[in-house]
Amino acid sequence: MATKNMATMLCSTMLLLLSLAVSETFTARIIGGQEVQPYSIKYQASLQTEKFQHYCGATLVHPQWVVSAAHCWRPSTLMKVVLSEHNLETEEGFEQVFNVSKIHVHNYNYRTFNNDIMFIKLSEPAQMNAYVQPVALPDDNTPQLYNNDCTVSGWGVTQVYSNYLSPVLRAVDVKIMPYCSYYYWGRITSNMLCAGSQMGGKDSCQGDSGGPLVCNGKFEGIVSWGISCANAYYPGVYTKVRNYIQWINWVMENDTP
Ligand SMILES: *[C@@H]1O[C@H](CO)[C@@H](O)[C@H](O)[C@H]1NC(C)=O
Repeated sequence: MATKNMATMLCSTMLLLLSLAVSETFTARIIGGQEVQPYSIKYQASLQTEKFQHYCGATLVHPQWVVSAAHCWRPSTLMKVVLSEHNLETEEGFEQVFNVSKIHVHNYNYRTFNNDIMFIKLSEPAQMNAYVQPVALPDDNTPQLYNNDCTVSGWGVTQVYSNYLSPVLRAVDVKIMPYCSYYYWGRITSNMLCAGSQMGGKDSCQGDSGGPLVCNGKFEGIVSWGISCANAYYPGVYTKVRNYIQWINWVMENDTP
């Protein structure tokens, strides 16, 4: 079991240990997808170190707030948030770079990955434009998820046995897998959902952590963890954003400058 930005691993059997031994050193990836039309995923953010190295994804939900995974936490002084990013290796002129002014984490359990959500306030509001727009959150009228087609995006590695981040933003279509406990028994809490493809080969992976899973135009999942990547028997596990809408709204309403 590995979070999707670092090589933590807790395995119950030797078999799993063996099959994971190779993949545990990897740091990131969208598998089986394609490069997106630049700036078409307007809510996509990149979390970067103070040296501007991408290490996790995030999602813009309001001009001054992004949501990511709690396991992507770093001290706020060592974190930058970049919007309107496409190619990490070149300065394309549209990037908006922010410091972090506040971080809220919701009871994250680093052993079970329950509540893998983090809410980040940018140092100033982002400029909304043709390349930067917040995502829509699900609401009470959004139908329940079941076998839906969704899209996950990120700069994670593109091959299972590769160490290298994708320089450009990529996305892949995945399906919600309603019977996830069947794949990961005992480990899927009510705050998690799974998505992948029946045949495997399409998934998010470590460097995609914290990034968005969007279904029917609504922000439904945060890339969280999984065993291996793009494996038909182990779909990707996502934080179930619906369970946190009230918390997100509460934090924003009670925020003081
Ligand atoms: C971020 O913080 C650093 C260090 O305090 C400062 O030099 C820089 O101007 C800030 N950048 C932005 C975009 O606010």
